[in-house]
Amino acid sequence: MPDKRLIFATQAVSFMNDKSINGFSKRSKAEKINWLTETFLNGDQESANLLRVYWHEDEQRQKRHDEFIENALTNFFLPFAVAPNFKINGEFHAIPLVIEESSVVAAASNAAKFWAARGGFQARIISRTKSGQIHLNYSGESAVLNDFFEQHKQQLKQSIGPLSKGMEARGGGLVSLELVDQTAQLDDYYYIDAKFETADAMGANYINSCLETMAATLKSLASNFSGFVPETATPEVVMSILSNYVPECLVEVKVTCPVSELAQEGLSGSEFANKFVRAVEIAHANPLRGVTHNKGIMNGVDAVVLATGNDFRAIEAGIHAFASRSGQYCSLSTAKITQDEFEFSMQLPLALGTVGGLTKLHPMAGVSLSILQNPSAEQLMMIVACAGLAQNFAAVRSLITTGIQKGHMKMHLLNLLSQYGATESTKSLAIEHFKTQPISARNVAEYVVKHQQDA
Ligand code: HMG
Repeated sequence: MPDKRLIFATQAVSFMNDKSINGFSKRSKAEKINWLTETFLNGDQESANLLRVYWHEDEQRQKRHDEFIENALTNFFLPFAVAPNFKINGEFHAIPLVIEESSVVAAASNAAKFWAARGGFQARIISRTKSGQIHLNYSGESAVLNDFFEQHKQQLKQSIGPLSKGMEARGGGLVSLELVDQTAQLDDYYYIDAKFETADAMGANYINSCLETMAATLKSLASNFSGFVPETATPEVVMSILSNYVPECLVEVKVTCPVSELAQEGLSGSEFANKFVRAVEIAHANPLRGVTHNKGIMNGVDAVVLATGNDFRAIEAGIHAFASRSGQYCSLSTAKITQDEFEFSMQLPLALGTVGGLTKLHPMAGVSLSILQNPSAEQLMMIVACAGLAQNFAAVRSLITTGIQKGHMKMHLLNLLSQYGATESTKSLAIEHFKTQPISARNVAEYVVKHQQDA
């Protein structure tokens, strides 16, 4: 029999020698930085200082940011920009964008300006319903579970009365409750599908609270239901959670103009329109292209979602699932020509909020919403979809005319110059020089070395 004290001592030594730590979450921010510096940064004080340099000078503001997440050490800056000239349903908007990638803001602005001169974007909300599910294990007779559900549906609905009061006053609440038999997909698997309207909130907390309350009610009702015999055939709640797949929370956006108004870069309007439609058809037919095409859309979508403090992971997951709804991943946008009229459009599932969550907590999200004239959730859905379509138009336009690198590298030039250590005067000269010369990482590096050697 090995000596227990020896085992514990050996474990303690190995714990001390490895790079793991107990109770990290309870340490102060300064202690966390010190531990990290010693353990993973080889004591590099420069990195430790950088972590501190990015603290906000106003302690209260910094505290607000620290409280968003756990184990916060500092802030990670992303640029906040604005793309003007978005004419949406006749009204002009300047759209805030938070993104790190050069040329996205320029592209969105460029497309917004282009379409403002051609009537702008037309947007409409198709529906705003979201759903959540109570996932069940049940091995008994399906008819018995059905009976139980139908007999107690009203009680389940009533159980969320107190939670729903405020939401109902704002025009939202539970819309429907259905039992779904999924045993063909997975043994003993059923779920209760709950549909909600959540007014101007994204609604995640409200939906999850309602689901958990109904799940607890279901559990207690099921334990007293005489139909569930033997005991093993009582429904068991596996989990209750909202779905980020929101195909019924849908916005549609489009731009249209006479084909003749699309002439550019040496292409006639008709040549441009046909090539554009073909490019979008390829993104429908081939996921290799479809994914990148949609990435262009997400450049615009994510940037506004981030700027307004919404959950971009939920939006991303939902949109890509929607792009696969036919069974094959394909383009989110569609282009067509009908009787010399070009139309470029898109339907997008977007569960967004303009109240609650980070939209109110993050001061910059507040500024974004003010810039957007404090939109309702529906208005924000339309704005985000327009940013996505604009960005998609700009990217595809570049792809079928000049190629993407010309415009992208033009915008990326400053990054490359900084990367190769260009001084401010070298940067000014380089900007002039590269107006007529091809921009590549190598060309820029060579220019910086040569110019700074000569200087
Ligand atoms: P340009 O025609 O050279 O621009 O386009 P310009 O200098 O003539 O300026 C015209 C307008 O463009 C400006 O109007 C702005 O609206 C905008 P103004 O403000 O003068 O009245 N603009 C700018 N806005 C802010 N800052 C700037 C700026 N420059 C122009 N510095 C442009 C240049 C980059 C716009 C064009 O080439 C373009 O749209 N390219 C597409 C770039 C793109 O899509 N980038 C996204 C990253 S690439 C990617 O991730 C996605 C992709 O893989 C998706 C896909 O495959 O589908 C491509």
